[in-house]
Amino acid sequence: MNHKRLGLLLGDEEDWPRAFEGLARWMGGKIVWQNKQSQVDVERVRIHPFSLQHGTSYDLVIDRLAYWHFTPREWLKKAALMNDLYLLNNPFTFQSMEKHSAYCAMMRLGFNVPETWFLPPKVGPDNKKYSTTAARYHDLFDLPEIARNIGYPIFMKPFDGGGWRGVTKVDNEAELMAAYHESDTELMHIQKGLDNFDVFVRCLGIGPDVRSFKYDPAQPQHLRYVLTDKVVDDETNEEALLTTKVINAFFRWDFNSCEAIYKDGRLWPMDFANACPDIALTSLHYYFPWAISSLYAWSQFCLATERPMHVTMDIKPYYDIADSDRSFKEKLREYAKLADQHLDTERYWEFRHTALSNLDEVMWHFTRSEEFDQIIVSTVQELFPAHEHEQFIAHYRGLIAKWVEDNNR
Ligand SMILES: Nc1ncnc2c1ncn2[C@@H]1O[C@H](COP(=O)(O)OP(=O)(O)O)[C@@H](O)[C@H]1O
Ligand SMILES: [Mg+2]
Repeated sequence: MNHKRLGLLLGDEEDWPRAFEGLARWMGGKIVWQNKQSQVDVERVRIHPFSLQHGTSYDLVIDRLAYWHFTPREWLKKAALMNDLYLLNNPFTFQSMEKHSAYCAMMRLGFNVPETWFLPPKVGPDNKKYSTTAARYHDLFDLPEIARNIGYPIFMKPFDGGGWRGVTKVDNEAELMAAYHESDTELMHIQKGLDNFDVFVRCLGIGPDVRSFKYDPAQPQHLRYVLTDKVVDDETNEEALLTTKVINAFFRWDFNSCEAIYKDGRLWPMDFANACPDIALTSLHYYFPWAISSLYAWSQFCLATERPMHVTMDIKPYYDIADSDRSFKEKLREYAKLADQHLDTERYWEFRHTALSNLDEVMWHFTRSEEFDQIIVSTVQELFPAHEHEQFIAHYRGLIAKWVEDNNR
């Protein structure tokens, strides 16, 4: 029997890791694929000094830390380069292809990213080199004029984005200048605001498995994922799903969320470099069991098929399609074929239907269990103030019970 180790590199999250570990235990840890049997052990990765010469006993790591914690980030990079560790997600492209680069690359492929400008920081580094350079070469610019040309409302947000940090909606010149002043040394974008939109579509992509959700950013966290069967019309929904799959394959991200705004008959992707996507039970609620089983399935697939880690990107075939004279719809379909090749989509679904044919059933039983209920209870107790515990335990129990009922086959 082939032994494999799956590591979870975690920060302060407890909800989804406990659900993931629970599901792995309920599944029994043995996978048979093409007559080869593997035993997969799930454990939490520890952080400590490491020798660049030493190997690692892990085969795959789901990383939730490297976007802010640089010690594990460097360990992941070393292990990917030296020890063939498979990573969700690729720390190389995630670092070099932040929101700004992701906008640029996707605009180049023809996606409708809202008009976006990059601004020099309000306050530059405090040294003579910078002040001399600025005095000699920085052009004075008329920010209100740029904003007037874009048209209000405008969103000012950090060029590298993430977690709603420093995002401000501005409706006029005074607010614009106040937000710019506030941004201080940060590098900011200003972006055409798409207000009065029809639907905010958020997609979560886990390997080739992509799902769309109706999302309401104006609501408090627990109500943002809206419970609905229909997010948008079928054609737009398909476009959102393909967009997410293409973005993820292009950047070599296996696990990423993509936000797009649907307005006046067009879909505008506007936040899609989220390689540590929110999968909290308290955000996803009804959709949480889907996310956990999908993450479990994709990581098992990568292990069982010994999928190689793709550290580098392969942009040219995408740009060749972008430069062809096809319509955007045709281009999207062609990009999606490249994405499916990269993500091994056909084999993944075969794997799910054979090696993991019992997964949906096991997830269903696990979700109804006392163990899962304890995850709901302790997550609410951790996140909400004491006087809200009863209300929110009932709220999440109700949504999970509805999932159990709807998935009773
Ligand atoms: N161009 C835009 N039009 C409308 N709303 C926007 C726009 N940009 C950002 N927002 C709003 O601000 C939120 C945070 O911005 P986003 O780009 O998603 O940043 P982050 O990467 O921090 O999540 C979005 O979820 C959305 O509600
Ligand atoms: Mg966002």
